[in-house]
Amino acid sequence: MKGILLAGGAGTRLHPITKGVSKQLLPLFDKPMVYYPLSTLLWTGAKEILVITTPEDQLSFKRLLGDGSWLGVKLYFETQPEPKGISQALLIGRDFLAGEPCALALGDNIFYGQGLPESLGRVSEASSQGATVFAYQVHDPERYGVMEFDENGNPRDIQEKPAKAPSTWAVTGLYVYDGTASERASRLKPSPRGELEITDLNLDYLKSGNLKVEKLGRGIAWLDTGTPTAMLQASMFIQAIEERQGLQVCCPEEVAYRLGLINDHQLLQQAKALGKSDYGKYLLSILEKN
Ligand code: DAU
Repeated sequence: MKGILLAGGAGTRLHPITKGVSKQLLPLFDKPMVYYPLSTLLWTGAKEILVITTPEDQLSFKRLLGDGSWLGVKLYFETQPEPKGISQALLIGRDFLAGEPCALALGDNIFYGQGLPESLGRVSEASSQGATVFAYQVHDPERYGVMEFDENGNPRDIQEKPAKAPSTWAVTGLYVYDGTASERASRLKPSPRGELEITDLNLDYLKSGNLKVEKLGRGIAWLDTGTPTAMLQASMFIQAIEERQGLQVCCPEEVAYRLGLINDHQLLQQAKALGKSDYGKYLLSILEKN
């Protein structure tokens, strides 16, 4: 199973903050936004991850993330010249995927909560056939792709930002696909707003009877980063949890360490490289507690 982290886009809803820097490099409390979906992808078991950025921001992402050896994985980089839709990630990543199943994570989607790593691991193990999307209950579903279910609770339709939502279940920005995703994406037509919509790809799987929907429960947080207020609230949520528990939310080095992707020595190197920051001290404390 491979991973794709989509971190392009113009970030226009956050202008002027994102005029000079990519949205996914902005901080959410104590770490860059992209660390959170990176942790999510590690939980899916992806050991080769393609990071897709805008051409202008690629160097910054490379400087931040390197080749992935600090996490015991391999990172690759590609660019998306213009934000022509989330499904385009599967075309840009076609050679990288080479027909293998993958998890696609949006660089601004943050997931956290009890049981999430286990359920991501389960889903990815069953990824060789069909697609899985993760649905989450929200009070403002019209802002997202929205699931419609039939009377038996099976998925009937997905609507992208409908005027009137058929349910309160939003489709989140994490998708698990079998090896046919790039091929299916290549047959999509741009939507009226000129994008290859991820909802259209998911509908393609649904119509062929190959779409599974995992409902994320109330114990999981799916945080919004769409506006300055939402970003601040997400930061404060993360701060509250981290300070209360003394444990990090989505710290990729810790995730990699606990998954056995890096050893004590590598974690120590990473902690030292982060010098005097609280984040570096936290990495050291993981080793001390073991
Ligand atoms: O967050 C989940 C939602 O993401 C889903 O419910 C929707 O079905 C899906 O269309 C998408 O909706 P958004 O309106 O939030 O998509 P947005 O254009 O904001 O893009 C989401 C992220 O993906 C953002 O960080 C930028 C990145 N992106 C987006 C597009 C369209 C790219 O890197 N390239 C792109 O071409």
